[in-house]
Amino acid sequence: MAGVTDLPFRKLCRRLGAGLAVGEMITADTKLWNSRKSQFRKVHVEEEAPRAIQIAGGDAEMLAHAAALNEQAGAQIIDINMGCPAKKVCNKAAGSALLKDEKLVAEILEAVTSSVSIPVTLKIRTGWDEFNKNAPTVARIAEQSGIKALTIHGRTRADKFKGQAEYDTIAHVKQAISIPVIANGDINSAQKAKEVLDHTQVDGLMFGRVAQGNPWIFREVDHFLKTGQLLGAPKLEEVRTVILHHLTELHDFYGDYLGVRIARKHIGWYLQAQQIDNTKIRQEFNRLDLPHQQHDLLHRYFESLQLAKEQAA
Ligand SMILES: Cc1cc2nc3c(=O)[nH]c(=O)nc-3n(C[C@H](O)[C@H](O)[C@H](O)COP(=O)(O)O)c2cc1C
Repeated sequence: MAGVTDLPFRKLCRRLGAGLAVGEMITADTKLWNSRKSQFRKVHVEEEAPRAIQIAGGDAEMLAHAAALNEQAGAQIIDINMGCPAKKVCNKAAGSALLKDEKLVAEILEAVTSSVSIPVTLKIRTGWDEFNKNAPTVARIAEQSGIKALTIHGRTRADKFKGQAEYDTIAHVKQAISIPVIANGDINSAQKAKEVLDHTQVDGLMFGRVAQGNPWIFREVDHFLKTGQLLGAPKLEEVRTVILHHLTELHDFYGDYLGVRIARKHIGWYLQAQQIDNTKIRQEFNRLDLPHQQHDLLHRYFESLQLAKEQAA
């Protein structure tokens, strides 16, 4: 997820039970790879295997070239983005806009799979609008083109992020092809994960927004699927440790200036996910400009929560 699944967050999600964490989408246009943003999104060989990079673009040759360069740089899985609702990437139809052009989809998938020796996976939506849910056709093309796994977000391109994801189309695709299918969209609890799994019979589930500020979701789902029991929310002490460690990782990865700014959104998500009134601390946190100030404020915040908990006990 662009702006979310950077290296520090991927490491954290993996540590808390995610089987795979795909990097933020990068453009297939290698001319843009020297930008500061792309440097952070490139393959980091120190990352635990399997290292999955996602590429986006609308030109088969460019995508194939980008995939090959990423393989050389240490990527172990190439994921192709045909799910993003943005109109264009680099002035060409890209992301889910490609779903309209099945011939081009085939051309891209064949070009990319033949340019690398590592597995290539594909992420799509159910179609481009409610009358054109061509995910089953695209899925067959993907299978024939050598794609090794397919993720489907249960919305059409026209839906953007509106309404609810539906899983019937995903179930249908699962029946139609034999490569692994991964369901995605609005899976926001362990119980929902089980429902989607039962309904679609897919091979895997992908979690997006629910993991923002809540990386514990992965182990919660894992535990529920294995035992049928809910694990319960993490203890305050663990929340504190995870958040403070994440904060340090962000400062180290991005450097002080950018790290402080990127930390603001993650901390905002964590605080939001804790479901307590935290407007004041969020405002205060967002005004801080130095890493140690962010650490100090969070230390004080968790101390006050701990104190309140002890007093209530
Ligand atoms: C901020 C944001 C960034 C995203 N970036 C990407 C991306 O780079 N690549 C991608 O395939 N999907 C991206 N997505 C879509 C998610 O991967 C996912 O398909 C979608 O959010 C639905 O799943 P969810 O309900 O679990 O979040 C993004 C979504 C959001 C909200």
